[in-house]
Amino acid sequence: MTNFTMNQLTNHKSIRSFTNEKLTEAEINSLVSAAQHASTSTFSQQYSIISVTDAKQKQILGEISGHHWLENSGHFFLMVVDQYRNLQLADQAGAKPDVLGTTDKFLAGVMDAAIATESIMVAAESMGLGGTIMGSILNDSKRVIDTFKLPQLTFPILGIALGHPAATPSLKPRLPEALMHFDGQYALPADFETQMADYDIVLQDYYHYRDSNTRDENFSHHIVKELSRDPRLRAELKSVIEAQGFMADFKEIN
Ligand SMILES: Cc1cc2nc3c(=O)[nH]c(=O)nc-3n(C[C@H](O)[C@H](O)[C@H](O)COP(=O)(O)O)c2cc1C
Repeated sequence: MTNFTMNQLTNHKSIRSFTNEKLTEAEINSLVSAAQHASTSTFSQQYSIISVTDAKQKQILGEISGHHWLENSGHFFLMVVDQYRNLQLADQAGAKPDVLGTTDKFLAGVMDAAIATESIMVAAESMGLGGTIMGSILNDSKRVIDTFKLPQLTFPILGIALGHPAATPSLKPRLPEALMHFDGQYALPADFETQMADYDIVLQDYYHYRDSNTRDENFSHHIVKELSRDPRLRAELKSVIEAQGFMADFKEIN
């Protein structure tokens, strides 16, 4: 099936280099509107968006993520899990909710923020813009919380660096469908190893022939390298999430 949306979705490429042109207010408003119209769990709209325009704040995010190129983006959104706003409604009503700090509500906020993030990316691409979703802000989530004065029951989950593309990267090949789309039950195909070896060759070619940052890499190597990284990186995440008031689950007293 081909149509404008399908064509755009299947041609997605993360953009990490931008011209100097900033996004206009109209573009930013359109992107936020696209995010706001995404589905949210139990229609609780449990995320917020912070536009990061201050050079110092961008520099801090560059330091945290190690991706200083984000400082040259045309606009940067920080996507925040947010149960704090709904706590205000409960407070006003005199309610004392037990559920806002649960793992369930944390995950709901993560899902809302992540789905809104993809809506922003798709909307930006439809406007001729490009960008990259950034989880590397989690390298120091406490510093992000302090920098943006995030209250209890909020958590910074993703960044989105956007702008006018200064490069046209080639399309990154995905796994063969048979390795990730199953019928009725989970079932890796019997020829998994052969199919993966073929995909490794496809991805090796991609890394070898792409325009920049070429390297000798395939998918299997990439995953093994990713899984062998230092487990101390982000080891504090659970405690930071808990310190924000989340993962406080009901415990049955026997
Ligand atoms: C949750 C999430 C976090 C990501 N974090 C980063 C990041 O911190 N830095 C980065 O350069 N790319 C990041 N990416 C982009 C991925 O590296 C990219 O989507 C992947 O390599 C596939 O490339 P493509 O988007 O060009 O198809 C992230 C993507 C997602 C979905």
